[in-house]
Amino acid sequence: MNFQLKPLTLAQASSFKTDALVVLVPSTLPRDSSALGTLIAQAVRCGDLDLAKPAKMLSMWRVPGIVASRLVLVTLGEGQPKHWRQAVTAAMGALKSAQAKDLALVLPSSPTEQVCALAQAIADASYVYTATKPSAEAAKLKNVTLGVPDVKSAQGALAQAKARVAGITLAREWGNRPANHATPDHLAKVAQSLTRLGPIQCQVLGPKEVKRLGMGSFEAVAQGAETSLRFIVLRYQGAAASVAPTVLVGKGITFDTGGISLKPGAGMDEMKFDMCGAASVLGIFRALADLRPAVNVVGLIPACENMPDGRALKPGDVVTSMSGQTIEVLNTDAEGRLILCDALTYAERFKPAAVIDIATLTGACVIALGSVRSGMFATQDDLAQALMHAGEQSLDLCWRMPLDDEYAEGLKSNFADVANVGDRSAGAVTAAKFLQRFAGKFPWAHLDIAGTAWKSGGAKGATGRPVGLLLSYLLSLQASATPAKKSVARRAKA
Ligand code: BES
Ligand code: MN
Ligand code: ZN
Repeated sequence: MNFQLKPLTLAQASSFKTDALVVLVPSTLPRDSSALGTLIAQAVRCGDLDLAKPAKMLSMWRVPGIVASRLVLVTLGEGQPKHWRQAVTAAMGALKSAQAKDLALVLPSSPTEQVCALAQAIADASYVYTATKPSAEAAKLKNVTLGVPDVKSAQGALAQAKARVAGITLAREWGNRPANHATPDHLAKVAQSLTRLGPIQCQVLGPKEVKRLGMGSFEAVAQGAETSLRFIVLRYQGAAASVAPTVLVGKGITFDTGGISLKPGAGMDEMKFDMCGAASVLGIFRALADLRPAVNVVGLIPACENMPDGRALKPGDVVTSMSGQTIEVLNTDAEGRLILCDALTYAERFKPAAVIDIATLTGACVIALGSVRSGMFATQDDLAQALMHAGEQSLDLCWRMPLDDEYAEGLKSNFADVANVGDRSAGAVTAAKFLQRFAGKFPWAHLDIAGTAWKSGGAKGATGRPVGLLLSYLLSLQASATPAKKSVARRAKA
């Protein structure tokens, strides 16, 4: 999809040639005597358009004085980014059957967060999955014109919006591809292809290198599968080499059967989404390639399948992680933490300012927070606050969860340093407590995206979350390459 900016007043929009015209109507109407301006003022006066509420809509066809054949007026209410998202989503819904190739929107202003929300809503509405469904009709929408009062001042916002859309769409697309079309090696190829787009380096390790590194826990999960594991290392350098990087670790289980602790059959297909953490890291690097912010970022993706097999890991087996800690695997379905722990240990070598892992880790997190907010755990308050804020900014919400040591009680083992599961209570927290044992050497956060990375039911599909949240976080590091941020790094050393 192609986004472009154009100066468009209401008068100019009246005579603008396009398949569909959407006018975003702010709560205070500008004085305007053009055909469009008059139409809007009348609709408001007659009570047919309530300016106080967002996403109130009037949809019209071949209106005299308006060149575009389809016209949608939609209100922005108080004008927060989420109101823009609601408004544009509603308008896109109304235009669904129109199959427009060209779309123009008239924006009353162009604040960055609002423009990003708008572009995302358009991209969400027009995304069509075709990779393994050739019969699906490809998206019709090709050109989107954003009519703004001042093109120059909207350029930064549009650049960011486009990068966000590209990153989120990549994460969504790879999340959606079935496990036989999205193997660990496929993910590695995607990572390698990103190096062509910007200052990104990629290194892919296979089974031999992973063994040499001593990643016994990651290796153990992969040993039941025919497909071979990959450990993907991505590096983006946008700041001086001396600036400590943020390390993102994405869970890349390309299919989770549960292993010998086999999952029930119903709904097991959804475990193809168990690599959405990995996909979000790929999506972030896609956006970094476009935006090139002044930050340093490392992406780590342990990728493998979790399969039952004659060689597979068995309940009770004890494995030795890269950190040296031994782990009693009481449940082979708690495999995410087993691959992440070795990636966390690997992250130490980058002397990171912070490490954030992203994982579809627990069904318990879905029970706790549903699909509205991702679970967020952090060992430092300022990191937690920054992530929380980034979520609000990007409309990709999270909520902080606790890390009290008492939650780790259940992970005690008679046969190893730690067990990989506790009892059923607070499952999302015990999983985080397990990971925390491997994250002692840097400020650390963990995002459990089990409830937010994909939708079930009729709208089954990946969402591209939490690329938006993470991108806002990384951009905030750049915005204040000053006090707030450094305090994270400084505290790390303390
Ligand atoms: N990938 C799953 C988590 C999951 C389950 C995400 C359902 C979304 C929906 C993870 O590997 C897993 O199986 N976790 C277990 C942990 C348990 C064995 C302690 C779970 O949540 O049931
Ligand atoms: Mn599992
Ligand atoms: Zn899993």
